[in-house]
Amino acid sequence: MAKLSNAELIRMLQAAAKDEHAAIIQYLRHAYLMGEGELACEIEGIAREEMRHFWMLSRWIVKLGGEPTITRGFTDLDGVTVPDWMRRDVAAEDRAIAMYTNYLTKIEDPDLRADIEHILADEERHNGDFTHFVEKAEAELLAEAGSEEEMAEIIAAIDEEALNWGVGHEYAALLQYLMHSFKLHQTDEEVSSQLEMQAINEMQHFGWFGEGLADHGKEMPLEHHGVTLPAKMREMLEADVQLEQETSAMYAEYLTRMENEELKGVVDDARGQELYHESLFSRLLKRADDLAEKEASETPKPSRPSWTIGTLKKGE
Ligand SMILES: [Fe+2]
Ligand SMILES: [Fe+2]
Ligand SMILES: [Fe+2]
Ligand SMILES: [Fe+2]
Repeated sequence: MAKLSNAELIRMLQAAAKDEHAAIIQYLRHAYLMGEGELACEIEGIAREEMRHFWMLSRWIVKLGGEPTITRGFTDLDGVTVPDWMRRDVAAEDRAIAMYTNYLTKIEDPDLRADIEHILADEERHNGDFTHFVEKAEAELLAEAGSEEEMAEIIAAIDEEALNWGVGHEYAALLQYLMHSFKLHQTDEEVSSQLEMQAINEMQHFGWFGEGLADHGKEMPLEHHGVTLPAKMREMLEADVQLEQETSAMYAEYLTRMENEELKGVVDDARGQELYHESLFSRLLKRADDLAEKEASETPKPSRPSWTIGTLKKGE
């Protein structure tokens, strides 16, 4: 095996992280377009596993001194029927399997190899799952043929605007908290894991809004709002508090103008959880300040000698 340089290794892991990000979005989009049902739930479960892969890779990137990335790799948005989508998901897994198999011929670090092997085993299982879903979806499509196609309910322009804004925002929040979580993994375990948990919560909101749009025959936008990625923990938490404040204010404003009661309920539920996020991040910010203060007071000032007249006298 030719030895990989650190920079090459980071580049490989970044490429893999971009593809995992693409898989999350591709699979979630398919699940939301399908609406409620057993198959959609299983696909959402697979998307969550891709998020775990994204995580593991990003943490390695940070550990090796690289920058985690929020760039999304190739996302297959084609296909019209459920079997079409499932075949495209099989193809995405084929690409992932080929990439990780190739990586294992190059990577030597035993810990990293173990993680890649673990990811590869997941992708092989996903490949089998999606292959099975193609058959299942084809059978369902045949059974449905001839039955009346359900007409999607008309959606008011303001409701569509609110959900679109929500999807773009939740996607950004999800990425921002994940990135902050990766970067703080070695600095502050507690803050890192809290951010990770809230990122999963934002992914749920992303799902609620995406499904709300799909139920009304609308595609969800796949572009996210801006993401703030400062270097220091304090600045990250400040940006996170600010993002939550802006979001709950925006949702509250939309709620005064929205029309569909059911969709309003969804936005209101998200708003309630954003208020919780804001209070949680504010608490973490205060905790970080308290810890910094405590540390500053406990560290002896190096310029002061370690003995004083008093201690000399006591020693006499
Ligand atoms: Fe994956
Ligand atoms: Fe996968
Ligand atoms: Fe949210
Ligand atoms: Fe939030």
